[in-house]
Amino acid sequence: MTVNLKGRSLLTLMDFSPAEVRHLLDLARDLKAKKRQGSYSPLLQGKNIVLLFEKTSTRTRCAFEVAALDEGAHVTFLDSASSQVGKKESLEDSAKVLGRFYDGIEYRGYKQEVVEALARHGGVPVWNGLTDTDHPTQILADFLTLEEHVAKPLSAMKLVFCGDIRNNMSYALMYGAAKTGLHLVVLGPKELAPDPAVLAAARAAGQETGAVIEVTDDVAAAVAGADALYTDVWASMGEEDQIPERVRLLTPFQVTLGMLQQTGNPAVKFLHCLPAFHDFETKLAREQMALGHDIREVTDEAFRSAHSVVFDQAENRMHTIKAVLVATLV
Ligand code: CP
Ligand code: NVA
Repeated sequence: MTVNLKGRSLLTLMDFSPAEVRHLLDLARDLKAKKRQGSYSPLLQGKNIVLLFEKTSTRTRCAFEVAALDEGAHVTFLDSASSQVGKKESLEDSAKVLGRFYDGIEYRGYKQEVVEALARHGGVPVWNGLTDTDHPTQILADFLTLEEHVAKPLSAMKLVFCGDIRNNMSYALMYGAAKTGLHLVVLGPKELAPDPAVLAAARAAGQETGAVIEVTDDVAAAVAGADALYTDVWASMGEEDQIPERVRLLTPFQVTLGMLQQTGNPAVKFLHCLPAFHDFETKLAREQMALGHDIREVTDEAFRSAHSVVFDQAENRMHTIKAVLVATLV
């Protein structure tokens, strides 16, 4: 079956079929190899894309910019301070204007409904660069990285996501698991249990691929036999006021070398979407530590260990986002 994604938006992987997700991963692998070989004929010449950021970013913004520029497209970056969007002009009007200028719109912000509205009114492909409840481009990078480092198909891997299991990464991984047949265990405290509707939707979609999506607070049972452990910050962007409570709830789920060893798999990989708190080299980690809150979701030892593939994962943001741009624009 040929996959054609031209003109499609990527708001959530739930909108894509397993074959379409496979196509994006294969295309990313191909574009990555081509870049490494230096053999390039730009695929997006004459295209213009706009990047709208209501939350901060390093990887996602840079990945979109480098991916677009590698392929000959032009990029405009807009943050909420420097545009009218949502303040002096409605989202609907802004989307209609941007859709006249640009071939595609990337959006990072709060509500999933905003990225959906942009897609409804923009008339061009819209790509979700992170919302409160999803982060689909991150999952493509994560899965490409897993395929590069674990000698099994995704449908035979066990991945454990631990920590804040009701955040955007937890939900995005559930959706990704559903589309690839991954065995995903989300490991965290009952107080942060995932939204039952999200879990039910992911499990229902996962019937097509045989995905298993489990939720537990039992560390030993969750990590046994895992191919990879994945964590994320304990308080996502916009949730900083919840840090004390999150530290209280999530300290037992901090990723340590001990937890990696507890998998019983000497080749276990460690993933993190980044940015990570693993030491005190950030202002926030130091300020919180001074208040008695150790916000490190992973120890420095584990983060820097041979298990860790986090920088390959970060690099893959660019190759996978490039695949999304190419697949949806040409
Ligand atoms: N992983 C990720 O989305 O990183 P940024 O917040 O730096 O874009
Ligand atoms: N859960 C994190 C992911 C950052 C890439 C956040 O939303 O801040």
